[in-house]
Amino acid sequence: MNTSKEQYTFSKFASNSFYRNQNAQLIDLLDIGDKQRIVDLACGTGGVTRLLFERLKNARDAVVIGVDHSSIAIKQAIEDFKDVKSSAVQFVQGGIEHLSTAVKDKVDTIVLCNAIHYIPDKDTLLTDINKSLHPGGKFAFNTTFFEGAHLPETLKFYRVWMLKAMRHLKSEYGLSVNRSGKVESRKQLTPDDYTDLLNKNGFQISIQEIKTVQFTKEGFLDISKFDDFIQGTLPGVPLDKASNSLQAGVHQAFEELNLQYVLRNWLDVVAVRR
Ligand SMILES: C[S@@+](CC[C@H](N)C(=O)[O-])C[C@H]1O[C@@H](n2cnc3c(N)ncnc32)[C@H](O)[C@@H]1O
Repeated sequence: MNTSKEQYTFSKFASNSFYRNQNAQLIDLLDIGDKQRIVDLACGTGGVTRLLFERLKNARDAVVIGVDHSSIAIKQAIEDFKDVKSSAVQFVQGGIEHLSTAVKDKVDTIVLCNAIHYIPDKDTLLTDINKSLHPGGKFAFNTTFFEGAHLPETLKFYRVWMLKAMRHLKSEYGLSVNRSGKVESRKQLTPDDYTDLLNKNGFQISIQEIKTVQFTKEGFLDISKFDDFIQGTLPGVPLDKASNSLQAGVHQAFEELNLQYVLRNWLDVVAVRR
């Protein structure tokens, strides 16, 4: 079986329509039609980059620059944009932590979808984003890994899912999980924490909202095929086995609890550089 990391990119999950809509709604809050230079930070395989590009089509001399530290994701994004015969989309491999190195000239808008929770030092991140924006430029992010993302009535689903996944891992592969070392995406901030951080780092919040989304079974199956999620959830387990067990857990939890979907909150924030 092919267990290479290329098999476990974000692209399967990114094609779920509930997820695309979630990102599209954030992008539409930005009203970017006339914006010229946009950075899609942590662009992954380019799903959000495409949403941005579609909204820029008629703007002359516009550019969207996708930045991600994963060479595999960047390679796939470039491949997926092969049809776009335009210099309006560029991809740069680099860490969010080195934004001002990856993107030298100031930009009008910076978007960071579904990744801010990965970054341990958010102060430094926001200082760097502030420096990279023109005054009045916009920074938008969303995340479903924040304190308040889980509705109380859905906690049982996550418990059953993980229990079933662990049992599958043990019974099918004789493996268990070493849980030492908490991954960053598990240490979650509240919306108020984000407000404080943005204010402190030279931003004025123009929109902050929480939306409740129907997270589908297909979505949980697809997120179980994404390496960052797999490693964060079942650390130390080989990707193929961990992915299979997580998917088995999804099937069993949805069946046992008779679910059509699981509700989950998404935080959307748009802030303006002072
Ligand atoms: C959940 S995916 C989101 C992809 C895309 N922004 C979206 O919303 O569909 C998170 C992405 O963040 C990237 N990432 C995580 N930490 C990063 C860092 N420190 N620097 C650059 N990229 C990072 C991962 O490689 C991954 O592609």
